[in-house]
Amino acid sequence: MCGIVGVLGQHEAAPILVEALKRLEYRGYDSAGIATINDGKLDRRRAVGKLVNLSDLLVHEPLAGKSGIGHTRWATHGAPSVTNAHPHQAGPVAVVHNGIIENFRELRAELAELGATFVTETDTETVALLTQHHMSQGLGPVDAATKTLGRLEGAFALAFLFDGEEDLMIGARKGAPLAVGHGDNEVFLGSDAIALSPMTNRITYLEEGDRVVLTRSSVDIIDANGSRANRAIKTISLDNARADKAGHKHFMAKEISEQPGVIGEAVSHYVAADNTISLPDPGLDFTKFDRITMVACGTAYYACLTAKYWFEQIARLPVEVDFASEFRYREPPIPGRTLAMFVSQSGETADTLAALRYCEGKADKIASVVNVIESTIARESDLALPIHAGVEIGVASTKAFTCQLTVLFLMTLKAALDRGTITQDQLADHISALRSMPSLINIALEQNAAIRDAAQKLSPARDVLFLGRGAMFPLALEGALKLKEISYIHAEAYASGELKHGPIALIDENVPVVVMAPRDRLFDKTVSNMQEVMARKGKVILISDRAGLEEAAEGTWAQIEMPPVADALTPILYAIPAQLLAYHTAIAKGTDVDQPRNLAKSVTVE
Ligand code: F6R
Repeated sequence: MCGIVGVLGQHEAAPILVEALKRLEYRGYDSAGIATINDGKLDRRRAVGKLVNLSDLLVHEPLAGKSGIGHTRWATHGAPSVTNAHPHQAGPVAVVHNGIIENFRELRAELAELGATFVTETDTETVALLTQHHMSQGLGPVDAATKTLGRLEGAFALAFLFDGEEDLMIGARKGAPLAVGHGDNEVFLGSDAIALSPMTNRITYLEEGDRVVLTRSSVDIIDANGSRANRAIKTISLDNARADKAGHKHFMAKEISEQPGVIGEAVSHYVAADNTISLPDPGLDFTKFDRITMVACGTAYYACLTAKYWFEQIARLPVEVDFASEFRYREPPIPGRTLAMFVSQSGETADTLAALRYCEGKADKIASVVNVIESTIARESDLALPIHAGVEIGVASTKAFTCQLTVLFLMTLKAALDRGTITQDQLADHISALRSMPSLINIALEQNAAIRDAAQKLSPARDVLFLGRGAMFPLALEGALKLKEISYIHAEAYASGELKHGPIALIDENVPVVVMAPRDRLFDKTVSNMQEVMARKGKVILISDRAGLEEAAEGTWAQIEMPPVADALTPILYAIPAQLLAYHTAIAKGTDVDQPRNLAKSVTVE
């Protein structure tokens, strides 16, 4: 949450900073701000709300200078306001920050004793004030920032800029990502490489505890022990850095439409022509495990819940799934022969990372399923499994979810093979079904108009229920999450069989119920639950295949037809109508699809 950027350049910094912030806006959009140094003088501009407000302000009140820092905010301490917007300045120091300074109250108290005055409600202001204090005691900018960093507890990525120092910027990383971009006699800082991609594709990822002192001609990295560190410069592919909508109205629409391609890509990275499944080094031998503990948040958590059905049914391997935020403080015992698996699109989610660290030294192996292979979660795992979804900008996860499912399904097949619970013929059937997934998704995408019509009907509702059985239950949860996060309609999901144990009391003619029911072995049971809903005047949107619709569509409010698909893979295919239903409902309601209120893409705070 929050995105930070910095530049010591050869050109005017303000437009560069704004362009980089545009690429970071997915991390938060409560306010935005930049500071530059012009003729040795620090100055800043800040605006509440989206970046466009800052851009407008800069038209009327431009900022000159070739050195600068910028920030896009997801508010933690203090309401979104100009005063609380970053950069925060105290005398000669300006600071931008992503994360939380956990001991800021203690620091505030100390600073108050020293006579400091506070103008904001933020934790970040203490960083600027403390550095200012150290400078007032005679320390130079580098020593003052270093001394301040030594006092900070919590998670942060920080960039510092100093009055009168046009060729100096300091960065620090602890618990939140920060990358250095290398240009031609220019240097950049950014929360991720995509932010820096218009300027450079030569990137150094800082490691936990690193701080960096930058000038246009030097990059000095000091590690957590205070020693000079050498970190590799990686050339990132421009493809990875693409962040345009490619003709679509929203990133979410673009990302939904990309699913056939990226799923095909993910399969081809793991499966050879002869159906061998190969994993990146050092691989995984599932005969070594008696259980899997899966931990994640949000959509990634629902991917884990789906995988539980697969691992248990196909590989006969017991799986526990937990929310990272609960797991990390419950201190669960981790028995021997446990594989701990962490699923995270960003690879930076604070709770998931903390859960992973809890498992270090306890689980036999730590594997992660990530989209960002350079992320902290990937780097701290014994084995990182990339999902190959490409950059996902829309705050509501779509293609990352189906790519997570694809990789988790392949892991299930690998586990089943290692454990001898499937034959080569069964493996071939599963893989051939997976290989046909891109074309089935294309057919599902052709249902766009029918889904839009259903969304039009759904959009006035105040509450919506989603029902599913078996592996369709986690998908119902995901469908409800998608709907609530981008349309702001209250949506809940239940396992179909649970409905009669309480939630059925909610049903009346004002509550649409989305039933996800492929014509599989559980179909009749789900349809019975659907009938119970209709008997109480509930309006049902039935998502099924032709056989299912022919059998059960009578009396339903709307129908969405999916192509027939192998039973095991229904969750991947039925994710498409769930995503499109949320998307079109949000459009009908006029909400902000790519940047829904209160949310941010990368949740690097607790
Ligand atoms: C919802 C969504 C979130 C994320 C969750 C975990 O659409 O995207 O629920 O899935 O914040 O994020 P990652 O996967 O980056 O750990």
